[in-house]
Amino acid sequence: MFVLAHLSDTHLDDTPGSAARTARVLDYLHALPDPVDAILITGDIADNGREDEYRLAAKLFASPLPVLVCPGNHDVRDAYRKGLLGIAEGGTAPINSRHDVAGAVFLLCDSSIPGADEGRLDATTLAWLAGQLATVPAATPAFIALHHPPVELHHPMADSMRLLDAAPLAALVAAHPQVAAVLTGHAHTAAASAFAGRPLLVAPGVSSTLRLPWEGPGPLADGTQPPGVAFHVHDDTGRLTTHYRVVV
Ligand SMILES: [Fe+2]
Ligand SMILES: [Fe+2]
Repeated sequence: MFVLAHLSDTHLDDTPGSAARTARVLDYLHALPDPVDAILITGDIADNGREDEYRLAAKLFASPLPVLVCPGNHDVRDAYRKGLLGIAEGGTAPINSRHDVAGAVFLLCDSSIPGADEGRLDATTLAWLAGQLATVPAATPAFIALHHPPVELHHPMADSMRLLDAAPLAALVAAHPQVAAVLTGHAHTAAASAFAGRPLLVAPGVSSTLRLPWEGPGPLADGTQPPGVAFHVHDDTGRLTTHYRVVV
């Protein structure tokens, strides 16, 4: 069994709020009496895509645990590479990464379209993902993580900028029974749905939160709600259970 802590949308910038909320969530995770196996952060790491925002992220994400990070629509690949990944020469190609952790394979895909809010897995990323999935043994669970949800979540703002052209991703998921779930962020609200016959699990937002059309204002003084985190528990029968928490 393993436990993955999943957070998203730290939107780090010059204001103290985003850094404080990010630190609060990571402090909460680091203080757990029984540490989780890994921490996944599904994009919108920086609010403005600046290198200094990524240097702040690198400091805040420092952890004794494996920390798996992918970009979102607010992220800028070149600055992300320089400030967060420490790659001096930068680069603008999609940032896809594989992590073999806790007996599972995590395939983190870059769904950002430079300059746009919507998402897309481009041909390079789809080819990379197909190649990686082909190497995952049948008995090994694989998790696909990306920023943009590939389905409607029934919120007008989130739905207006979701993943475009989700069919190739659905085909890859359908063709690989090892895929245990698809994990995303971007919506700033915790959600659970399904995609291509697998769980689709959306992490709540850290730095800002989205209220649903049928809800009123949130409980905080400014009408928002506290940051949150998802715990994905994968047990030895292959079953996945997700628990959502707010961090006050
Ligand atoms: Fe976001
Ligand atoms: Fe986003």
